[in-house]
Amino acid sequence: MSKYNEPVSANITSVLREVRVFPPTKDFSKHAHIKSLSHYRKLYNESIKSPEKFWGQQAKNELVWFKPWKKVLQWKEPFAKWFIGGQLNVSVNCLDKHLETPVANRAAIIWEGEPAASGKPGEERTLTYRQLHREVCLFANVLKRNGIKKGDRVIIYLPMVPEAAIAMLACSRIGAVHSVVFGGYSAQSVADRIFDSQAKMVITADGGFRRGACVQLKKNVDDALALKDAQGNLLAKTIEKVIVLRRACNDIHIQEGRDVWWHREIEYVDAECPAAKLDSEHPLFILYTSGSTGKPKGILHSTGGYLLGAKMTTKYVFDLQETDVYWCTADVGWVTGHSYVVYGPLANGATSLMYEGAPNFPEPDRFWRIIEKYSVSVLYTAPTAIRAFMKWGVEWPKKHDLSSLRVLGTVGEPINPEAWIWYHEVIGGKRCPIVDTWWQTETGGIMITPLPGATPTKPGSATLPFFGVLPEVVDNNGDPVPRNTGGKLVIRKPWPGMLRGIWGDQQRYKEVYWSEVKGSYFTGDGCRQDKDGYFWIVGRIDDVLNVAGHRIGTAEVESALVSNQKVAEAAVVGRPDELKGQALVAFVTLKTGVPALPELREELRNHVAKEIGPVAKPDDIRFAEALPKTRSGKIMRRLLKQIACGIEIKGDTTTLEDLSVLARLSQNEE
Ligand code: PRX
Repeated sequence: MSKYNEPVSANITSVLREVRVFPPTKDFSKHAHIKSLSHYRKLYNESIKSPEKFWGQQAKNELVWFKPWKKVLQWKEPFAKWFIGGQLNVSVNCLDKHLETPVANRAAIIWEGEPAASGKPGEERTLTYRQLHREVCLFANVLKRNGIKKGDRVIIYLPMVPEAAIAMLACSRIGAVHSVVFGGYSAQSVADRIFDSQAKMVITADGGFRRGACVQLKKNVDDALALKDAQGNLLAKTIEKVIVLRRACNDIHIQEGRDVWWHREIEYVDAECPAAKLDSEHPLFILYTSGSTGKPKGILHSTGGYLLGAKMTTKYVFDLQETDVYWCTADVGWVTGHSYVVYGPLANGATSLMYEGAPNFPEPDRFWRIIEKYSVSVLYTAPTAIRAFMKWGVEWPKKHDLSSLRVLGTVGEPINPEAWIWYHEVIGGKRCPIVDTWWQTETGGIMITPLPGATPTKPGSATLPFFGVLPEVVDNNGDPVPRNTGGKLVIRKPWPGMLRGIWGDQQRYKEVYWSEVKGSYFTGDGCRQDKDGYFWIVGRIDDVLNVAGHRIGTAEVESALVSNQKVAEAAVVGRPDELKGQALVAFVTLKTGVPALPELREELRNHVAKEIGPVAKPDDIRFAEALPKTRSGKIMRRLLKQIACGIEIKGDTTTLEDLSVLARLSQNEE
């Protein structure tokens, strides 16, 4: 029996409309990796018909192996193993491999720091492949010197600086498993992730820069290491060492014996570090992401399959060429930053640009200035950012020469056709193909996407599946629905970059992803396919919200709210938001005797920021006498969603909504 029975089709029919088709231009297709739709279809059909042959060939062509695999795939649903018996190393594939080629002296990472509010340009750094290789080897030796061994978990809590990539690659070099925590997450979130992964080390910085302020990362780590659970046990007791990168933006506390400076440690080690020969299935990283229940889940990715997915998708989806300067604006704390800032571009020998700072600081032309300065040719960003740029006005991009751009990408949330057209016309000068890429933390890499030069695009559609990916839209029984009918998006076949499970909880892995639709991976997204087979993602159909491209579990925000002593109960739902896609609305009942004062709203928002991070702050908090419940006691989320969408909040919080009355009314209607 399905857990998600909301009729997705109702939403979908309402968005059916005539759409414009943008065919690839001849000029682009001529030089593209995939030159036509029929070329794509031919390869796609092969990949589906004989997946093992297809992936075996790709793994051989794209990756360097210490030892070849014996078998391409072992599939014991829901557990897949790819390239069994094969041995490789991710850092070798991203670095060493290029050292004997002309790529060695090309920029691997170009980093641009945030400029000063005075308008003074920000810091900049370029690391060639050879330099990056050296830095990674040095730091891998620092990890070893500080007790890290193959299989140990390492938390990386850094700003958007090259050292984030260096730390990730250094872990991969020695077979340590990294877990990057977004720098905007709170001390509590850091502690929860340390506890769940039983990590031995945290790599952090004294601070990060954002809008002229210093984000106190090390202070958050200190707080995280002191946090206790309800029984009074330290959450982070497994941490033995903290390595701190000096940014000189903040005075910090150094605890003798536990905390060491990155720059000092480097002095003690040499630059030679042989790469570990790792099994293809060796865990590469854990990345925590929100689900519909409980705390975030540790999504586990492994070495060979993940890297092949990241490398191939970067190459084909962005039509990556050696001359490209590629800029994915995501933070390394998200999966997009893993696959498309670090692993994918570097495995392809491209130049990956990293920027630390906000898109509108000191002025709203930050992105366009950077594109002009470095002749960026591929830009990959989120629809929320595009909508913000639209709001700030065309005068900002118009001030800059954007003619170096040749491919534009979007990710993280559905893009509305208006934003797509604006991106195409104002940023892409009507000449750049747009790739609207659908995927998830769990999928490791892009799954549904146009291939520039091959796929005609339709604004708002992620179009067609990538090689080897077999998506389908199904009803509650798991049967395919007719074209132009809404349903659940599932993936029918395993693919190399798929998650290998949930860290420490394979039962939950089975339940969340493999029990909703029998025999298929359940994405949690609603979708329809149009008459041409194009996929149109509608958004999440589970209790996960997508706020500004960030995935937020309603349950997580609810439990953060009820952890405040003034709150009795909380229910969080989404409502459409012009800029962020979705906004968070929290319905809160207070404990007896606690007055619903207007200032309590801000207090609770800050409480959520402290518990999870500012990204999860509710946009609206609405106090209620009681929450609407079904007769069996379940919160009526659908009703709350309707209220959140339909009724404007009055400024005065003292007028409490009696939602239980509404609930009774709706029960009578049923
Ligand atoms: O709902 C889909 C939405 O983002 C979810 C995955 O979120 P996360 O794991 O944080 O990864 C984000 C970056 C890959 C999906 O279940 N989503 C992602 N890309 C798109 C999208 N929705 C519509 N169109 C997209 N292109």
